[in-house]
Amino acid sequence: MTDDVLIVHGGTPLEGEIRVRGAKNLVPKAMVAALLGHEPSRLRNVPDIRDVKVVRGLLQLHGVTVRAGEEEGELVLDPTYVESANVADIDAHAGSSRIPILFCGPLLHRLGHAFIPGLGGCDIGGRPVDFHFDVLRQFGAVIEKHPQGTVLNAPQRLRGCKIELPYPSVGATEQVLLTAVLAEGVTELRNAAIEPEIVDLICVLQKMGAIISMGTDRTILITGVDRLGGYNHRAIPDRLEAASWACAALATQGDIYVHGARQLEMMTFLNTFRKVGGAFSVDDDGIRFWHPGGELKAIALETDVHPGFQTDWQQPLVVALTQASGLSIVHETVYESRLGFTSALNQMGAHIQLYRECLGGTPCRFGQRNFLHSAVVSGPSKLQGAELVIPDLRGGFSYLIAALAAQGTSRVHGIDLINRGYENFMDKLRALGAQIEAP
Ligand code: EPU
Repeated sequence: MTDDVLIVHGGTPLEGEIRVRGAKNLVPKAMVAALLGHEPSRLRNVPDIRDVKVVRGLLQLHGVTVRAGEEEGELVLDPTYVESANVADIDAHAGSSRIPILFCGPLLHRLGHAFIPGLGGCDIGGRPVDFHFDVLRQFGAVIEKHPQGTVLNAPQRLRGCKIELPYPSVGATEQVLLTAVLAEGVTELRNAAIEPEIVDLICVLQKMGAIISMGTDRTILITGVDRLGGYNHRAIPDRLEAASWACAALATQGDIYVHGARQLEMMTFLNTFRKVGGAFSVDDDGIRFWHPGGELKAIALETDVHPGFQTDWQQPLVVALTQASGLSIVHETVYESRLGFTSALNQMGAHIQLYRECLGGTPCRFGQRNFLHSAVVSGPSKLQGAELVIPDLRGGFSYLIAALAAQGTSRVHGIDLINRGYENFMDKLRALGAQIEAP
């Protein structure tokens, strides 16, 4: 498919200003939360990305009216007439997103039943959903797996319960929040994820009338209420997209001002960026990231749950590390297969060796289990343009960064995948001076 290819002429530093809007990993979930209310909700700072379109379609199938609000990037979601949807339609609309699984709790509350199709999402590991179904069972849901998907029923009102997650999963924590807020009684969630997007979702739910308190030790306590209203909320900015642009500035020796980027949720990234030798300055409207000249420095890096170094920052940063002098060590502890994208970087001239062992301070769940989840990046390397096929969202954007940093021309296939999480990325690239052609 020719329209899914981008031709990138590398070697030009990216320079200029772009804007990031609401976080991909919050906005679709806040949209799902609107289903729980009995009044319309207003969500602001909504980016024009595929995951938003998928959730919008699924909400509409279930009777929620979704329209643009007065403000640019505002959605008004009215859940007054929630209804069952046709299974085949749900399947057709779910696309390659993982968000549909978060419809379970809200639909069980509103309709007493739900259908969840097979899930998509990026191929960066097995990505099971066992935690989700385990917690829903604890609330009292009855779950049946069918070849087309999963059918869930709530024979009676779901009941609050005590849950301990085996791992602080973002999605499973959201599943618990979106289910517990209307369940009868109290839910205690231990080992919860506390990513900024989760805290923002809690803010959304609190605006709707939920009672949720966060403990100091990854414990979240939710007191179920009988009814929720709507919300008016401005989504937290996309710290993952902002970091991708920061890495693009570093790898191409450029200078990018990211309007909308916020220091608070990016502190860990900013520390690492500085250790590598990147420069940044923060003001009220955003963050400027640039390569200050001179050599970049190799580092040791371990991804982790928040407040650790976010896994979604890892892939773009690895591209920048190919330009650092010395040996960098990267230990990916969240997804077992998030380093596969490096083989294409090696074809471009990078020197990245993968290991099954946990290289770095902490042994993780994937050690000695045959997953190539640690990398040694030896740099600096001169990258050359190549024929690239995008493997996943962040890996895909990382390939674009590599192609822009490389000498010569690259053909990047499968770029449509990037639209899942990067709003208008081609316009932004052009605004930064990238030499790209979409044939
Ligand atoms: N896991 C299980 N069973 C489950 C759920 C998760 O074993 O039922 C495991 C996963 O396989 C993984 C780990 O737990 O090894 C963490 O997964 P988590 O549930 O936290 O991830 P997620 O909710 O599926 C969200 C983001 C990801 C981001 C992760 C980690 C969305 C839509 N996706 O995924 O974002 O990497 O949290 O912060 O919010 C991306 O933006 O490119 C992306 C992949």
